[in-house]
Amino acid sequence: MAYKLLKSLEVVAISVLFVILQNWANAKPQVPCYFIFGDSLSDNGNNNNLSTLAKVNYSPYGIDFPVGPTGRFSNGRTVVDFIVENLGFTSSMPPFAESQGENILNGVNYASGAAGIRDETGKHLGDRISLNRQIQNHKIIILRLLRLMRNNTETRLLLNQCIYSIQIGSNDYINNYFKPEFYGTSRLFTQMQYATLLVHQLSNQLKTLYNTGARKFAVYGLSLIGCAPFAILEYGTNGSLCVDKLNNAAAHFNERLMPLVDQLNNDLPNAQFTYLAPAPDSTTFVTNGSCCTIGGGGGELCLKNSKPCSNRRRFIFWDGYHPTEAWNEKVAERAYSSESSLEANPFNIHKLAKL
Ligand SMILES: *[C@@H]1O[C@H](CO)[C@@H](O)[C@H](O)[C@H]1NC(C)=O
Ligand SMILES: *[C@@H]1O[C@H](CO)[C@@H](O)[C@H](O)[C@H]1NC(C)=O
Ligand SMILES: *[C@@H]1O[C@H](CO)[C@@H](O)[C@H](O)[C@H]1NC(C)=O
Ligand SMILES: *[C@@H]1O[C@H](CO)[C@@H](O)[C@H](O)[C@H]1NC(C)=O
Repeated sequence: MAYKLLKSLEVVAISVLFVILQNWANAKPQVPCYFIFGDSLSDNGNNNNLSTLAKVNYSPYGIDFPVGPTGRFSNGRTVVDFIVENLGFTSSMPPFAESQGENILNGVNYASGAAGIRDETGKHLGDRISLNRQIQNHKIIILRLLRLMRNNTETRLLLNQCIYSIQIGSNDYINNYFKPEFYGTSRLFTQMQYATLLVHQLSNQLKTLYNTGARKFAVYGLSLIGCAPFAILEYGTNGSLCVDKLNNAAAHFNERLMPLVDQLNNDLPNAQFTYLAPAPDSTTFVTNGSCCTIGGGGGELCLKNSKPCSNRRRFIFWDGYHPTEAWNEKVAERAYSSESSLEANPFNIHKLAKL
């Protein structure tokens, strides 16, 4: 009797589990696909096989990620990983370097550590995939999608509905303009001219993406790069809290990027661009200092196999430049759902998805 009861409970439990799994598998994401362009903040493995100092497929990176080190520049998930979850996808987009077969149908991640808007950016660290090359890679993916879907109209429609995430520009400063020993840009341009030049080039790159069928764009402003522990170590603060010249440079860039987003919305038919500058509350976080022991890469990355801090959920910075999973989660939450026009203008990612 007891055995029979247990047996039928087991059947019930298994059926419930089955239904849950089925719903989970059938739950549709809010957009059919998500394409990711950018630098180390978004990279999820594209640099792993490149000859560069800017790669992190080693411990302690990924210490809080289910499968360990993947090439993500964090202890766990990145901002785009959290956006992917918020949008209702059940798995993250493959890095372009590992894209194959049907795994490209929900989107691809093209981002590459040390990459910039300008092709030469990051070259002193080794190989990297500049934004121009990322866009070329996207064109390769579109050809593969056309072949997979066998219906050009449907492929076009699909590409129109995807979200395109673009977070890039920090390296054009920290691995270009402010490294005069490797790059000539600071001798050729004033900071104002350089910001104008970068945003102009980014404008052309966004228009190229638009011409491939992209319509929904999430474009990120630069964060306060001058407050990163490695920036402070490298440049000094001259009595300020952060490196003012880096933060001022980021502000010049953002001041030009914001109106560009409005202009593209006006100029390009059916385009939906939004500008994101997430600013989570940092009061419960340690805002200075890195969680891991830095010295790898160009000096800003964690040392291989070093033991990181144990209170990782309290730190903003995981290594010398890149945030912890805990901070990335907060940033993603603001980008996805903030109602403040200072953080998401004209709309947050949740609204962008619904348009
Ligand atoms: C790196 O190369 C290895 C061996 O050739 C391959 O199995 C792997 O998929 C590549 N990964 C990336 C991210 O390119
Ligand atoms: C391609 O897709 C469109 C839109 O769904 C449909 O109207 C059309 O019949 C399809 N063409 C072919 C050849 O299947
Ligand atoms: C350091 O700060 C002082 C006082 O604010 C200022 O006069 C000086 O120009 C600064 N030096 C640098 C290198 O920024
Ligand atoms: C961070 O700030 C705290 C409090 O101001 C200070 O005690 C600590 O030494 C600082 N750590 C670093 C790495 O600068």
